[in-house]
Amino acid sequence: MPMTRAEAVIDLEALRRNLATVSSAVTGVPVMAVVKADAYGHGMTRIAQEARGAGVSWLGVALLSEARALRAAGDTGLILAWLWAPGDPDLDACVGSDVDISVSALWALSDVAASARRLGVRARVHLKVDTGLSRNGASLDEWADLVGAALAEQGSGAIDVVSVWSHLANADRPDDQSVADQRTAYEAAVAVAAEAGLPPVVRHLANTPAALGYPETRYDLVRIGIGIYGVPPATPGSASALGLTSVMTLRGRLALVKVIPAGQSVSYGSNWTAPRRTRVGLVPLGYADGVPRSASGRAQVLVNGARCPILGRVAMDQFVIDLGELVGDVRAGSDVVLFGDEATGAPTADDWAVASDTIGYEIVTRVGARVPRRYVGAR
Ligand SMILES: Cc1ncc(COP(=O)(O)O)c(C=O)c1O
Repeated sequence: MPMTRAEAVIDLEALRRNLATVSSAVTGVPVMAVVKADAYGHGMTRIAQEARGAGVSWLGVALLSEARALRAAGDTGLILAWLWAPGDPDLDACVGSDVDISVSALWALSDVAASARRLGVRARVHLKVDTGLSRNGASLDEWADLVGAALAEQGSGAIDVVSVWSHLANADRPDDQSVADQRTAYEAAVAVAAEAGLPPVVRHLANTPAALGYPETRYDLVRIGIGIYGVPPATPGSASALGLTSVMTLRGRLALVKVIPAGQSVSYGSNWTAPRRTRVGLVPLGYADGVPRSASGRAQVLVNGARCPILGRVAMDQFVIDLGELVGDVRAGSDVVLFGDEATGAPTADDWAVASDTIGYEIVTRVGARVPRRYVGAR
């Protein structure tokens, strides 16, 4: 099908390669492929399917609705969902379809247990402890109570405690003392659970930067998101150094090519003015498609093998680029690569992150719903 305006090309072969690279780097520890937020913008059900095909035994999502959507798409494997609020309408569907559910507080434990009793099943629970991120997870002084209540529910037949887990704050920084501190707190929480009588559980703590940079955080399972999508977790260049490659390439086609006279300004706010006659191209993608407005005047795109800077502001649906001298023969319809496909010299998601004061995670995840995803490299 011809590309009309723009597309995100999702390279499934790159995904499989990244999965294999990460799996061999973590030397035998099982990988949970994190596919929340529409698989970081790559398309949740398709990425999940591909990951399962590559032998991934666990999938991780944030929301119960995401887990439910995976079940509705036919996934029957292990899925963990970790973020929900009281009254979540997808709880029964998840408990009833064997989705593993994270519990960080007594209210959540009692909601899950009540759902299991209603449905006549045993719910699979991962007890989450806050080891210093201060986000989700029971605080250390509530931990023993939560463990005690979970053991009672396990004894009553409503739940099975599958894991004790936590999440790190700073694994994307090298040699960070807080990683060691969180690990110490985590191991103490696991010990509290064992002493209270909980049988051995699956221990999981590491995300991509932890799994790759802090081997001692791998335990029994690693939760890998950004790494399988080939975007560096922190330091620019670290993904390619590890042999990971971009899965997503965001491309468009020029909607217009024209020359503007010296002295004419470009886009809202008129904050870039042509110093000379300038050949410009109109890229039909804007912040409604996830192109960060904060990249205005800062990011670059690739046209005919040459880097072209953005001129002026990114608007809702479009932005303007400088086609300069190097670009050669271009016309309406010519290809523009915003990021990905690094072998061609295109900018990376990370380059866009640097240009817009964010992280590569946000660049790929925010690519909007009106950009069609096209999958290549299927087996
Ligand atoms: C709890 C949890 N685990 C794992 C991940 C995956 O992290 P990463 O994409 O750095 O691998 C995330 C993502 O934010 C997360 O929230």
